[in-house]
Amino acid sequence: QTVALDSILADKGQHRHFMAKEIHEQPGVVARALGAWISDDRSRITCAAETIDWRAVPRLTLIACGTAFYAAHVAKIWMERVARLPVEIEIASEFRYREPPLPEGGVTLLVSQSGETADTLAALRHAKACGQTTIGLVNVTSSTIAREADMILPLLAGPEIGVASTKAFTAMVLGLQALSVMVARQRGAIDAAREQALVDLLSTAPRLLAETLALEPQFEALAHEIAQAEDAIFLGRGLMYPLALEGALKLKEITYMHAEGYAAGEIKHGPIALVDDTTPIIALAPHDALHDKLASNLREVIGRQGRVALIGDAEAIRDLKGEVWRSVVMPAVDPLIAPLIYAVAVQFIAYHAAVAKGTDVDQPRNLAKSVTVE
Ligand code: G6P
Repeated sequence: QTVALDSILADKGQHRHFMAKEIHEQPGVVARALGAWISDDRSRITCAAETIDWRAVPRLTLIACGTAFYAAHVAKIWMERVARLPVEIEIASEFRYREPPLPEGGVTLLVSQSGETADTLAALRHAKACGQTTIGLVNVTSSTIAREADMILPLLAGPEIGVASTKAFTAMVLGLQALSVMVARQRGAIDAAREQALVDLLSTAPRLLAETLALEPQFEALAHEIAQAEDAIFLGRGLMYPLALEGALKLKEITYMHAEGYAAGEIKHGPIALVDDTTPIIALAPHDALHDKLASNLREVIGRQGRVALIGDAEAIRDLKGEVWRSVVMPAVDPLIAPLIYAVAVQFIAYHAAVAKGTDVDQPRNLAKSVTVE
């Protein structure tokens, strides 16, 4: 017993919690995963799913639960934008009982850290029974989903101990982005030069993740203020919408605070009624094509005494700086890889808010790392 405890404690290294350790491992995890996804000459993406004829695939269905579902949501946008492939995303617990029609020749991809989530496994079995080609994107390669899927794509994130998923999420996002590039090539949606540019872009992620980790003290200070509130709202648009949902989930999971994520353009249809001068509104705002739209959504919130914490690059923050409650300046990134980098921001906010509240960060109440029952 003592030996086991000692070895677990030692595994945390200099960190107080496994979650902190796993957040800090992300540059290394992503670098290692990139090594597996990128060809030796560093010009293209290569993986087991290359054996599928993606030109003949009418639709990709991505199925997952929890954090993995938000990685799938990011992937939908990438796959549609980069590979021009129609994608449906599904929560496994809904999919398994809805009996939706699945297109002939379709591919169903299950995203799961553990590879054991009961609902995701049931969805895999349903998709197989419907004749879909199935792929498991899993961290645990000895898992049931890994065994039963037609092929597996390993996340290579290493063991994740903290119940709230962090490095597995970034490995999922990276893997699905890489897969999108390979599918885009096969479908003729990109040429070799564009593929090289996308490979080079993904290769910048470890450095950008490390730069974002260095912002921890600023996120810690912000999180301490957020932890004083009863509720929090995360806003984003486009690729930042799933990150807003993930930010709210992380905060709920480990601080037990009430948090919601919304597509910023949707707040005027109801959620804006929640805005007051006590609820922090965390806006995820890289300077992307939707920035002006987001800024106008935020001004609607600010005009109603909303306290906006703006997480964005210097350019995105410049025009709103005088109006927002707090801001944290992120590295400037190509909007396409912003989900990977902004994941660290929402993880730090949740982690440090939980530490401030004194909750059990690695073993939050009522949650299990892997939900193997329905
Ligand atoms: C549980 C965990 C979540 C996780 C979800 C899916 O609910 O508490 O953190 O996102 O399962 O897990 P999976 O192993 O399938 O990715």
